Amino acid sequence: MDPINLYEYEAIAQAKLTPMAYDYYASGAHDEITLRENHAAYDRIPLRYRVLRDISRRTTATTVLGHQLSMPVIVAPTAFHKLAHPDGEVATVRAAGQAGTLMILSTLSTTSIEDVMAAATGPVWFQLYVYKDRGATKALVERAQAAGCSALVLTVDAQIWGRRERDVRNRFQLPAGLSVKNLTPSGKEEFPQDARGSGLAAYVASLFDQTLAWKDVAWLCSLTELPVLLKGVVHPDDARQAADYGAAGVIVSNHGGRQLDTAPATIDVLPEIVEAVDGRVAVLIDGGIRRGTDVVKALAYGAKAVAVGRPVLWGLAADGQRGVERVLDLLRFEVDLAMGLCGCATVGEITRDLMD
Ligand code: GLV
Repeated sequence: MDPINLYEYEAIAQAKLTPMAYDYYASGAHDEITLRENHAAYDRIPLRYRVLRDISRRTTATTVLGHQLSMPVIVAPTAFHKLAHPDGEVATVRAAGQAGTLMILSTLSTTSIEDVMAAATGPVWFQLYVYKDRGATKALVERAQAAGCSALVLTVDAQIWGRRERDVRNRFQLPAGLSVKNLTPSGKEEFPQDARGSGLAAYVASLFDQTLAWKDVAWLCSLTELPVLLKGVVHPDDARQAADYGAAGVIVSNHGGRQLDTAPATIDVLPEIVEAVDGRVAVLIDGGIRRGTDVVKALAYGAKAVAVGRPVLWGLAADGQRGVERVLDLLRFEVDLAMGLCGCATVGEITRDLMD
């Protein structure tokens, strides 16, 4: 029988992947407290459903930064999809398009931006890490725009790398033949081979720009006409600053619990952030979303959409493009079910009264 929820996809993926690859995707920083809390926090929030509303004609469709999507669920940026399946990011982007949603492509992709965009049938945003080599960073931005990506997502919580102890233990490296494909033109596609712990952590330590600061948001906005979203915000003051510096949106995120352990669960800080930006920028959220009810809670607190990372990788590992499509279809089915049971026929009817 096909898997009937996202957890079953994770079990299949774990059985198929090498322990090194599974641990890389599954792990969080240090004691993995934030990793667990991201989902546990949703479980603690009750949904005060409403009754006696006509929900016979429901739709999960929504619009996010001008893109019409089949549901308020998009694909979060995650690295190295060919570790999960030989078709890698091409399978993921095809599945996202098929599911009527949007994919955020990681800088740390095992397929080049151009090859991903050639396969895309739906919108793609490009997630950016800023390298010390600003020329190489600028080239990524230009390539993303030229290839047809419709927004940039600047990750702001990862100038230095969280300590993912499973990767340290496993001495995480990419298997032969895989590399950080987008960085091939600037000669930064390989991890250092002499790393004593995680090869990725050594890569980040030698190449990412630790000076990254607010002024660079203005720098990035000056390089591109694309809207820029900041991903990794958990503080309301930072969300306000993002709006002041010209961002089009913020993604409330703690990097899936992979950076600062004991950072708050994202759903717990979402209401303050929505209040702080007061409609000036779009607010999206990721971290711990596994059920349709989680999506409804995030929207009830004011998120425009949620992004899912690991579940997409589990679908990809289980069954390539078809697995990712199934994961996204399962989520859409669950969002529709949760909406109906809450008395909401449209995404616009998911309002704060469900939470209090
Ligand atoms: C990549 O962005 C990671 O968190 O490993």
